[in-house]
Amino acid sequence: MSPFNLQTCARPNILTLEPYRCARDDYKDDGTNILLDANENAYGPAVAAEDAARQDAEVDLLGLHRYPDPHQHELKQLFCDLRNTRVHTQKALTPDNMFVGVGSDEAIDALIRCFCVPGRDRILVCPPTYGMYSVSAHINDVGLVKVPLLPAPDFALDVEGIAAALSGERDVKLAYFCSPGNPTGSLLAKADIRRVLEHPTWNGVVVVDEAYVDFAPEGVSLAEWVNEWPNLVVMQTMSKAFGMAGIRLGAAFAAPPVAALLNAMKAPYNIPNPTSELARLAVSGRGLARMRGNMARIVEQRDRMVAELARTPGVGRLRGGTASNFLLYEMLDARGEPDNATALAVYERLAENRGVVVRFRGKEHGCLGCLRITVGTEEEVTRFLAALREVLADVRGGDGSVPKDEARREDVANGVIA
Ligand SMILES: Cc1ncc(COP(=O)(O)O)c(C=O)c1O
Repeated sequence: MSPFNLQTCARPNILTLEPYRCARDDYKDDGTNILLDANENAYGPAVAAEDAARQDAEVDLLGLHRYPDPHQHELKQLFCDLRNTRVHTQKALTPDNMFVGVGSDEAIDALIRCFCVPGRDRILVCPPTYGMYSVSAHINDVGLVKVPLLPAPDFALDVEGIAAALSGERDVKLAYFCSPGNPTGSLLAKADIRRVLEHPTWNGVVVVDEAYVDFAPEGVSLAEWVNEWPNLVVMQTMSKAFGMAGIRLGAAFAAPPVAALLNAMKAPYNIPNPTSELARLAVSGRGLARMRGNMARIVEQRDRMVAELARTPGVGRLRGGTASNFLLYEMLDARGEPDNATALAVYERLAENRGVVVRFRGKEHGCLGCLRITVGTEEEVTRFLAALREVLADVRGGDGSVPKDEARREDVANGVIA
């Protein structure tokens, strides 16, 4: 009999980890589904296939036989050039302000490992928010302090509540804010973030996750502000506006001492050569132009969805904002109330009968009855709007059988990721 016992050998917090789920655990990409669930860029990558192919030829198959550059100086400089707008400060960002990782998910985790002592320290999160903050905390045996966003009118930070938590709760090392928010699509007020940064006694780091910032009005990114605040980190990603979720490249801007810690602790070759090559193409010249073109098309479809959904029977309020590439809408029951059973039935029927995969968010704070819908291409939006009208009519017309084991299905549909 082997002495090995997984239950006593593995870390207890890993054994109890809720494995993360995304809508695609339930509904696969079978080539016919419309995937409006993960806030990807419907119009595709910022790098055209022909540009990537040409790069292949020039640079020896993207340098596959060599270890990658551990410092990624050139890529970091391109990110700095993009964000040096002089809107928030006159001080310029340089590569010393940067960490790049395997998606911003690596930065989320690296920050927790950098600042939080397992089993003691905690992070502050503001639900409803991106699920990876709490998943990473759990993996690292780090606790959560929750100060929910203020749902009315548009999911702003509860600055008083946050200040009180940072004064009263022990060992809070990081505060994760998402702006524009996922799943809210709302931009957080710069003045509110400033008030948290100005907390008189808290010894911790404010992390602003700007994964969707390029869908918001120009000049709102606070990346430059890391040169004004030694305890601010701003995260961004190539997965959304740049349409490059497949290369897994995320970035964090921070004051140089913080960036140095993140760089010191990372795996040396964390950014693969093909990722670096493609990211550099995306963040310069033709890539930027292509990204901006795709964004304009997404914004056009976002506006169209807002206009059409306002006159779709059974669709309630737009919750949150329109600063992102997704929208959060209430589904109404036959009495006209936002309702999770209706939203869940709509979610399932859209996916199972119409091949349109969206995201059920009804269990999140302030999101009763809500679906989160990624903005698609013009054709996808047309198909989604028609399918939604039909499904809502069915569900609200009495054919909407309330699921028997509704609580479990809601949990499954809600998931934690993306
Ligand atoms: C708010 C937010 N932050 C970060 C991420 C993860 O981004 P990445 O693909 O860079 O890991 C997502 C992905 O959906 C997100 O919604």
